[in-house]
Amino acid sequence: MYAGASRSDASLDASPCASGAKDRGRFITLEGGEGAGKSTQLARLVDWLRGQGIDPVVTREPGGTPAAERIRGLLLDAAQTGLSTEAELLLMFAARADHLAHCIEPALSAGRWVICDRFTDATYAYQGGGRGLEQARIAELERFVQRGLRPDLTLILDLPVASGLARAHRRSTPDRFEVEDLAFFERVRATYLEIAERCAERVCLIRADQSEEAVAAEMRACLAERLLAGR
Ligand SMILES: Nc1ncnc2c1ncn2[C@@H]1O[C@H](COP(=O)(O)OP(=O)(O)O)[C@@H](O)[C@H]1O
Ligand SMILES: [Mg+2]
Repeated sequence: MYAGASRSDASLDASPCASGAKDRGRFITLEGGEGAGKSTQLARLVDWLRGQGIDPVVTREPGGTPAAERIRGLLLDAAQTGLSTEAELLLMFAARADHLAHCIEPALSAGRWVICDRFTDATYAYQGGGRGLEQARIAELERFVQRGLRPDLTLILDLPVASGLARAHRRSTPDRFEVEDLAFFERVRATYLEIAERCAERVCLIRADQSEEAVAAEMRACLAERLLAGR
C-alpha cells in the first residue's frame, strides 16, 4: 500500500481540455504518537477520498522509496543501539530528501494528491521534543531539504501517552522509538500540541481517544472544510 504503489493510473492522463500544466496536487500529512491511530485512519481517509473522486498517492515516513525504506529499517531497528541523535536526525532528512525527489514532488507536480503517514512535524516532535535537539537545527534542514514545500494540511491525532503505548504494544513488538520511556513520549506529545497551536492554519488537532468512526468523521469534516470546499 505504501511507496507510491498506485501512481500509474488514469488520473495522470492529460485531460483533453488541458493545455499542458496540471494543477498541483494537495499534500496531506498524518501525525501523532505511537498507537494514535494514524495507519488505521489513513486507510479510512483514502477510501473516503476515492469516493470523492480523488485517488491519492499513499506513502509514509521515514520511507516511501526503496532507498528511504532501507533507511527506515535502520532507524526503527531496536537492535541498532547507540546511534547518535545527530545521525538519527540526518538519516531522517536523508530519507526525506529521497522521498521528496522520487515520490512526493513528482506526484504533486502531476496533479496527484499525496497522503503521508508522518512527515517533518514528527522530526520536530521526536528528534526535537523527544531527543532534545534544538528546533532551529531541524528548521535549517527543513529549509535545505524541502525548500518551500510544506503540507497543505496536517491532521494531528492526539491521545494520552499511556493509551497510545498500550495500543501500540498490543499491535506489535516495540521498535527503536517505542522502547523509550514515558517522559520521552510526553515531550513528543507536548511538541505536537505546540505545533497545532502555532500552525493552526495548516494543522487540525483531532482527539484520538474516541471510536475509530468518530475520529474518521472528524478528519473527513476537517479535510472537507479546509481542502474540498470550493473545489
Ligand atoms: N479509535 C481507536 N480506538 C481503539 N483502538 C484503536 C483506535 N484506532 C486504532 N486503534 C488500534 O490501535 C492500534 C494502533 O493503531 P495504528 O493505526 O496502528 O496507530 P499508529 O499508526 O498511529 O501507530 C491498532 O491495533 C488499532 O487497531
Ligand atoms: Mg502506524
